[in-house]
Amino acid sequence: MTDRPRIVLDCDPGVDDTFAIFTALRYCDLVAITSVAGNVGLNHTTRNALVALQLAGAEHVPVHQGAAGPLNGEVIEDASHVHGAAGLGGVTPPELTIAPASDDAVGALLDATADGDTVVVAVGPLTNLALALERDPTWVHRVPRLVIMGGSLDAGNVTAAAEFNIWADPEAAARVFQAGFDLTMAGLNLTHQVRMGPPETVRLRDAGSPTAIFAADALDFYADYSRREYGIEKTAMHDPCAVLEVVRPDLFAREPMHVVVETQGTHTRGMTLCDRRLNAESANASVMTAADGEAAVDLIVAATIDPLGVSG
Ligand code: RIB
Ligand code: CA
Repeated sequence: MTDRPRIVLDCDPGVDDTFAIFTALRYCDLVAITSVAGNVGLNHTTRNALVALQLAGAEHVPVHQGAAGPLNGEVIEDASHVHGAAGLGGVTPPELTIAPASDDAVGALLDATADGDTVVVAVGPLTNLALALERDPTWVHRVPRLVIMGGSLDAGNVTAAAEFNIWADPEAAARVFQAGFDLTMAGLNLTHQVRMGPPETVRLRDAGSPTAIFAADALDFYADYSRREYGIEKTAMHDPCAVLEVVRPDLFAREPMHVVVETQGTHTRGMTLCDRRLNAESANASVMTAADGEAAVDLIVAATIDPLGVSG
């Protein structure tokens, strides 16, 4: 495991985002969270980030509120059918004692990465990142790495071609993929190899910590969607994969590829088209292809039980 990498997490909590926050707290130096609309509306995604931090006892981590919708302004639909109307799997959150640090997620992303040593992990629609590039086109040179949960090497989940984070704001995603980041993509092809369900909710409930109990209840709802929709007991834990790629890169395989985001196609808008031809264009991304799912799940469960690692 690398030293605790400094990261800033851009997210749209979201049940799997919540697990990603616990994973980041446990294994990273999480300098800030920026929120974006996606799974549910911005008020809920921002509140849910605060809930995760408060439950974990990590109130010191600032949350900066970001974009309420995609660059082109058209919020087509959210993922509340997957994550629950308020984004936490129908679980009633505790009364909040903390509030957002600002409503300037773009400024927070630029400030958090000013030292040139902070990795950006983005696990929601990429609107905040595209706006940061617009405000400061030189930003890309101060971000050592960008790891996203988004896209897919094969099937989508919103459409046959498009994964939700990219589909929700294809114009933003296209700008991010074209910007020149050292970009690693944890797509659905990868995250579907890291799955949690009833066995993990038992482990969490047996542990009994506040974050574990809350997460187990949220996971029950989230996994139930996977069971109903796909007939699969265990559901993909998309967002923690992006955090773990920074912490334990050895758990994953990846291939350099040229990736473009389709912003026009009738049937393919939001697709991440990964070029695997022998004469492909030069790579602009490292596309993750394989995961040690069992090891990843153990790390996610341990972090969810004890996000601050106080129990050693
Ligand atoms: O397609 C999965 C992604 O969309 C995850 O980040 C999930 O939280 C949703 O945002
Ligand atoms: Ca997400």
